Amino acid sequence: MCIVTTLLGIETSCDETAAAIVADGGDVRSNVVASQIDLHSQYGGVVPEIASRAHIERLDSVIEESLSAADCSFDDVDAIAVTNRPGLVGSLLIGVTAAKTLSWVLNKPLVAVDHVEAHALSPAIGLDAPPWPAVGLIVSGGHTSLFRIDGPSSIERLGSTTDDAAGEAFDKVASILGLGYPGGPAIDRAARTGDPRAVRFPRTMLKHGSLDFSFSGIKTAVLYHVHGHGKTSGGLEGLSSQALADIAASFQQAVVDVLVRKTVLAVAQTGLSTVVLGGGVAANRLLRTRLEAACVERSLTFHAAPMPYCTDNAAMIAALGYYRYSEGETVGLEVGAFPTGSR
Ligand code: KG4
Ligand code: ZN
Repeated sequence: MCIVTTLLGIETSCDETAAAIVADGGDVRSNVVASQIDLHSQYGGVVPEIASRAHIERLDSVIEESLSAADCSFDDVDAIAVTNRPGLVGSLLIGVTAAKTLSWVLNKPLVAVDHVEAHALSPAIGLDAPPWPAVGLIVSGGHTSLFRIDGPSSIERLGSTTDDAAGEAFDKVASILGLGYPGGPAIDRAARTGDPRAVRFPRTMLKHGSLDFSFSGIKTAVLYHVHGHGKTSGGLEGLSSQALADIAASFQQAVVDVLVRKTVLAVAQTGLSTVVLGGGVAANRLLRTRLEAACVERSLTFHAAPMPYCTDNAAMIAALGYYRYSEGETVGLEVGAFPTGSR
């Protein structure tokens, strides 16, 4: 009889309250996400205090739902994995406190997981064989990085953003264009009817050979384009819906150009032949198709995280938690929450 190791994953680092049951690091038995978009959209972004309170209200029922959807009980859970870094400290603390309490009451081992590393491993969920070693492009609302991933315990950062994350740029540009929050899906939608060559926005590549990113310049370029650069312009009200779609498509094209070029550069520098894509912005249709096409052209293997594991979720937390647990990396009840990621 083969022994299955089942983890309960808990994720509350930002504005999604999530719990999942995952067997052996890749067999997702349930993946429950309670989004808080409705609570934050009127403010145009995440309000940390509202996020923490919503996590408190929702986490119990989200965990219960993850167990019932997987048709199991706490008795079937071997260990509990929780995101404890990086993220909003008040939000992280809710998940960490819940996980510690369960660990203590149920006498189950506790594993603390890095949210960005979990995004980095998310493209492997559901694959028959691990895709490592690989170059990983991980693009989310809080982080944008290229990694060399040799396995769950060997994730080396090759480059990252020096200012805004890619998702943050999508959110800010959507706000400039009056498209609402969260901005990524709104721009993705608006861009469908736009001309990506209508406006030539900057592609910031930084110094030769650099694998770092910068997205604050393009955000400012969109702002100037809409509101005029030191001169009176019609602003947002003066733009037709076609002009809005053209700006959205041109912005998206410029960001995707940079992401694809840097990933190809990372492949050249590392000599690896597999590319994986994860994080909330990995849900972007243009990025998925363009990166895949670039890989096919160069005979590289490509895996994008399945859609449910792009934006924040607990399946990826339980998946990474499984590897940490298998390596004996459990933590005690004194474990803390680390908003910047460094312990
Ligand atoms: O990974 P995630 O859920 O949270 C963080 O860890 O930050 O990523 C959220 C980000 C947001 O900035 C959101 O606008 C972006 O992912 N996003 C997208 C799309 N769907 C979500 N960006 C571009 N296109 C999308 N379809
Ligand atoms: Zn995330």
